[in-house]
Amino acid sequence: MKPIRCTLALAGIAMTLAAPAWPQAEPGLNMREIMLSIIAPMTNKIWAASDIQTDSQWLELEQAAMTVLAAGTLIGQGGPDGVYATQAKNEDWQAFTAEMMHAARSALSAIANHDEEALFNAGNDELYPPCENCHQAYLPR
Ligand code: HEC
Repeated sequence: MKPIRCTLALAGIAMTLAAPAWPQAEPGLNMREIMLSIIAPMTNKIWAASDIQTDSQWLELEQAAMTVLAAGTLIGQGGPDGVYATQAKNEDWQAFTAEMMHAARSALSAIANHDEEALFNAGNDELYPPCENCHQAYLPR
């Protein structure tokens, strides 16, 4: 093997070793896109819930609360694109994310009990404040 080929082969091995655990050609959603496409529509469903009658309405709310949890995991890491990775290391960022995820868990237990009042309270008292607090600290202005 000629030296140049050998160097290329070694570079190839080094790149393979440095690659992430799964192939990811695209950086994925950024923080704003997570907010606009996942967090806002799902929390709006929870906040707008009233006069819930059917199983499919409860199921839709359950899915919304679970989706907030899933997005919380992404937010906690600073977003898949990593732009907020530095901020995500801060204690307050982690606390706001944890509060939001805890609120989603409260919503889930209210939903499991088909308890509309508990769902309303979880939405207003628990789910809303972390949005406000995190935005006050971190929304770019
Ligand atoms: C841990 C921090 C954090 C939490 C919690 C959080 N957000 Fe955000 N949110 C951000 C950041 C940072 C941005 C700005 C992203 C950017 O533009 O780079 C943002 C942006 C947004 C935007 C877009 C605003 C705009 O006009 O650009 C919406 C809507 C939004 N968030 C909704 C919510 C809601 C609703 C909640 C609560 C259920 C929430 N967010 C919780 C950090 C957070």
